[in-house]
Amino acid sequence: MDNKNRPIGFFDSGVGGLSVMREALKIMPNENYIYFGDSKNAPYGIKSVEEVRELTFKAVEFLLNKGVKGIAVACNTATSAAVADLRKMYPDLPLVGIEPALKPAVESVNDGSILIMATPMTLKEAKFNRLMKKYEDRADIVPAPCPGLMEFIEEGKLQGEEVEQYLLDKVNTYKKGKISSIVLGCTHYPFIEPLLSRIVGEDTVIIDGGLGTAKELKRRLNEKELLTDSTEVGKVEIINSLDKEEIINLSYRLLEL
Ligand code: DGL
Repeated sequence: MDNKNRPIGFFDSGVGGLSVMREALKIMPNENYIYFGDSKNAPYGIKSVEEVRELTFKAVEFLLNKGVKGIAVACNTATSAAVADLRKMYPDLPLVGIEPALKPAVESVNDGSILIMATPMTLKEAKFNRLMKKYEDRADIVPAPCPGLMEFIEEGKLQGEEVEQYLLDKVNTYKKGKISSIVLGCTHYPFIEPLLSRIVGEDTVIIDGGLGTAKELKRRLNEKELLTDSTEVGKVEIINSLDKEEIINLSYRLLEL
């Protein structure tokens, strides 16, 4: 197959990376996509770095065997654990990761703090701590680890009492005065953004890195002259390590949101 017409691979620990892929579909609708969600091994955010690194290497190998021309590691946790190594392993592969979008949050801050919601591993890892150091003089940045939150989204619970209570407790725990913005540093969380916005109110800006990552992927594919010439709408294939119809159905539903 012509290199340009090969699919783009997306990977996440579960259904979260679809929040990034939906942005890619908007700006590159003619591409073909293969999405691999590793829901069987989720959540990644409470595992050891070593475990997540191994699972990520395996997922990337799986996608490469499917013939993808570039890969988006659409998971903040897997990015912090493995992307630096992956770049060394596959120096010629267009590869993007995702990290909490601190820059736009700091640039838009008026007064109050910036809450970073992410998995415990993302917030503990060196990658995030370097990022935080870079911006900590310019804003009051408050890391808020959210163990247990991605599970709601994996179960398709995007609203309802339980998830609402979880978010209320989380915001109340980390709130010290006004919250200027909230950064969604896990790709699962954009799916509960409408609920979170209702809880914190419209004055708090909610930011995620989905579109930025999709744009970076496009830029890297373009750089290698790998963007498709096709003018037809591309195909999307979703694969999940959890062999259940429900998770595939949920995945297609999330992609439509
Ligand atoms: N979606 C993943 C992220 O962006 C993490 C969820 C998990 O497996 O803990 O960090």
